[in-house]
Amino acid sequence: MVRYIGDFPPFFVERAEGSYFFDDSGRRILDFTSGQMCATLGHNHPAVVGAIRRSCERAIHLFSWTLAPEVVELCRELAGLLPPRLQKVILLNTGSEANEAAIRMAKLVSGGHEIVALNASFHGLTGGAGAATYSVGRRGYGPALPGSMVIPAPNAYRCPIRHCTDACDLSCLEVGFELVDSQRSGQPAAAIAEPILSTGGVIVPPPGYFPRLKELCEARGMLLILDEAQTALGRVGANFAFEQDGVVPDFLALSKTLGGGVPLAATVTSAAIEEACYARGFVHVTSHVSDPLPAAVGLAVLEVLRRERLAERALELGRRLEAGLRDLQQRYEVIGDVRGRGLLWGVELVADRQSRRPNPELGGRITRRCLELGLSMNIVSLPGLASVWRIAPPLTATPAELDDGLTILDQAIGECR
Ligand SMILES: Cc1ncc(COP(=O)(O)O)c(C=O)c1O
Repeated sequence: MVRYIGDFPPFFVERAEGSYFFDDSGRRILDFTSGQMCATLGHNHPAVVGAIRRSCERAIHLFSWTLAPEVVELCRELAGLLPPRLQKVILLNTGSEANEAAIRMAKLVSGGHEIVALNASFHGLTGGAGAATYSVGRRGYGPALPGSMVIPAPNAYRCPIRHCTDACDLSCLEVGFELVDSQRSGQPAAAIAEPILSTGGVIVPPPGYFPRLKELCEARGMLLILDEAQTALGRVGANFAFEQDGVVPDFLALSKTLGGGVPLAATVTSAAIEEACYARGFVHVTSHVSDPLPAAVGLAVLEVLRRERLAERALELGRRLEAGLRDLQQRYEVIGDVRGRGLLWGVELVADRQSRRPNPELGGRITRRCLELGLSMNIVSLPGLASVWRIAPPLTATPAELDDGLTILDQAIGECR
């Protein structure tokens, strides 16, 4: 196998169900990463399994020009959850692809090619999305696309322009756009951002950030793409994070959480943008565009989201998780910062709170110990910059499962610090 992200763990996973996966020795491991952030309904939710089963009896995959009713139904359901400005949907497979489609449409409709992104961003690793990804995977793969520009991410704990401490006043955004203005060649297309910069260290932009970003974009003829791969469909306590951020983007990219574990993504835009793209001969045909099986699963995911009130549940469970994490922070000097929303939390590890020096070595050790003790945790380490646990259990997790995870984390920190 190609080792696509360093080394693999020394066990196989035999089975996954709810908040757990089970290794080949029968060990049960609590999953605080929701798989790769996709299993927001927990693993193998019966509704997802049922939808896959029914699709196997109907249609799995079709010629890209043909449509099955479940495809149209999912587009309609998504549009029903979204404001009037976001009503046109294309169904794809991955998060990279959803961003790729948004970027291609933004370029086609604007006639420009300049794309602004944040320096802690992760939008995928394909050509266009990868050119707007600044947190990882940039070095060694040749030049990014011309017109790729970066602004500092609003990291209140580590202010990128050494201006704020613990509360961002948006100066980084203003400075960022001044730098963008010095670099622009006059062919703007879009800015792209995650509502919470997850892979870049669970950075939560302050209130007012996105409305101001939209203003700055509009003043320059740039469209706004929000990449809600991780934040949409309940994770942060709402159907979509942008509803909490007071802004409606020109493009909304959905992926991970939409498919409940199967590859499904969607790019949503306005009727006016879709019309303009169509008039210009927009082409984005991929092998699995509008496939019926993932669409059927997407419908099941939306139904469970509604029926099990998962957004509200994320808020309730999030309060419990936050309280537990803040308690650990009180007791362990190595926890520098705790931040997040809903059921997406970042815990930043430091050498000590005074220096705030990142502590990736300790983070790695505690993470390995957690796994030995039966808890799967994801640490996002940006070399020299930060070492942050991204904690995101399934939205279907029980309070007792959250408590179990916190107990294991407590033990692991206690043993390793
Ligand atoms: C915010 C965000 N966008 C895009 C992607 C890329 O998605 P995919 O890996 O499905 O291409 C990711 C993946 O982690 C992500 O977190």
